[in-house]
Amino acid sequence: MALAKDSLRLVVTAGPTREYIDPVRYLSNESSGKMGFAIAQAALDRGHEVVLIAGPVHLPTPQGALRVDVVSARDMLAALKEHFEGAAGLIMAAAVADYRPARRKAGKWKKKPDEASSTVSLDLVENPDLLATLGRRKGHRRIMGFALETSDGKRRALQKMQRKNTDCIALNGAQALNADRTTLTLFHRDGEQQRFEDRTKAQVARELVRAMEALCGAPSEA
Ligand code: CTP
Repeated sequence: MALAKDSLRLVVTAGPTREYIDPVRYLSNESSGKMGFAIAQAALDRGHEVVLIAGPVHLPTPQGALRVDVVSARDMLAALKEHFEGAAGLIMAAAVADYRPARRKAGKWKKKPDEASSTVSLDLVENPDLLATLGRRKGHRRIMGFALETSDGKRRALQKMQRKNTDCIALNGAQALNADRTTLTLFHRDGEQQRFEDRTKAQVARELVRAMEALCGAPSEA
């Protein structure tokens, strides 16, 4: 395998975040972390240094990665602030929860059997947008965002690239969640786009790492 001549320090995020309601319940999503872990592996295979910031997932750490385990979106933001500083780029594959419970209950949320109503409600507050936060202060560093869309994908992905100030954005659909294969389109700032149809996540990860190398100006042999 041809290695990149100049190794980069890359931060990769992966998996879901988990937002606790009480000590035993949480809000989260279907993300398995497979895409982010495949990207971390592909970057390591190319000789790069990888900080892998992972939400709660059951996946082995790619050998050589510095793994930072986090739980909530706010934990992930704290880890990103620490590790993005000295990096050349960020690949933000994590599926970050947009909302969290307004208050985490100290004890288990109990049913109230005597109340007449069978519905309850949970107040949610918005989580910070991690990508937008880092996008505002990225300077010379490069950022690849992800967009998960179920309709009107291209328009929404391009809007996210603008709003979050990323250098490119990888659009995929809900069928990519927890799957070994994916279909993904990578949109670039100059209007170029690359489509990867029904490929393994490992194959797509290699292409995304190549795209990141090109963005970071790392000369590569292949
Ligand atoms: N993202 C983030 N912080 C959030 C939400 C999302 O950094 N609070 C990042 C994701 O990691 C991804 C990109 O933003 O790289 C787009 O995520 P996506 O879930 O597609 O979009 P949202 O911004 O959450 O918007 P919506 O859910 O309304 O589509």
